[in-house]
Amino acid sequence: MDRLRLGINIDHVATLRNARGGATPDPVRAALMAEAAGADGITAHLREDRRHIRDADMGAINEAIGIPLNFEMAATEEMARIALATRPHAVCLVPEKREERTTEGGLEVAGDANRLTRYIAPLADAGARVSLFVAADPRQIDASARVGAAVVELHTGAYCHAVDEGRHEDAAAELERIIAAAAQAADLGLEVHAGHGLSYDSVTPIAAIPQVAELNIGHFMIGEAVFRGLEGAIAEMRRLMDIARDAG
Ligand code: PXP
Repeated sequence: MDRLRLGINIDHVATLRNARGGATPDPVRAALMAEAAGADGITAHLREDRRHIRDADMGAINEAIGIPLNFEMAATEEMARIALATRPHAVCLVPEKREERTTEGGLEVAGDANRLTRYIAPLADAGARVSLFVAADPRQIDASARVGAAVVELHTGAYCHAVDEGRHEDAAAELERIIAAAAQAADLGLEVHAGHGLSYDSVTPIAAIPQVAELNIGHFMIGEAVFRGLEGAIAEMRRLMDIARDAG
């Protein structure tokens, strides 16, 4: 199997910075450290409310790093303008609600297909690989291929919650859905990514899915970095991913 890529989401370095309103800890420094520690990409989410990453961070991260930037954003006109000006390697479209603590569900692609087709075209024309963050739902996967996305990122949140809470049957059922969705997406010619809520406890079965090419992991990595440093936290995740991949 191909080596699985690891994207590190550095949003929560900015969360910590913003808690005090100053300039530290600097998400650009975190992105560079993640790169040095072996990350294959950096993910950052410019939310409508700018609660963590801010406009200036996006450009600064993109300028500084030598690995691809995955610009996560809601499918709004404002974000399209910023993404087109930033010119990241990839754009990941996510649903966004102001009141949520994190991206809770997948994007509604099937019910918004005409608008998304028009939305994606200029981003793709500008050279961005457009990814849609979707639930492991056959309808959404099918629609993702039709609207012109290059990639789907499968939402692993429900699976990870079940693992974290020791609900083994639910975790197994969620995992089956993700495995089926990965196969469906690959058959439709989509590149398959996965992410949300992943930790050392939940990563192995997801990393073992042969069609999955990339994982994007944020909150757990930044939390773990408090104890091990970012380099140690990333090295352990890389080790677990490689073992899962080799076993597959
Ligand atoms: N992928 C996507 C599309 C996300 O929205 C998020 C959360 O910002 C992540 C991955 C990372 O999730 P977590 O921070 O739970 O690892």
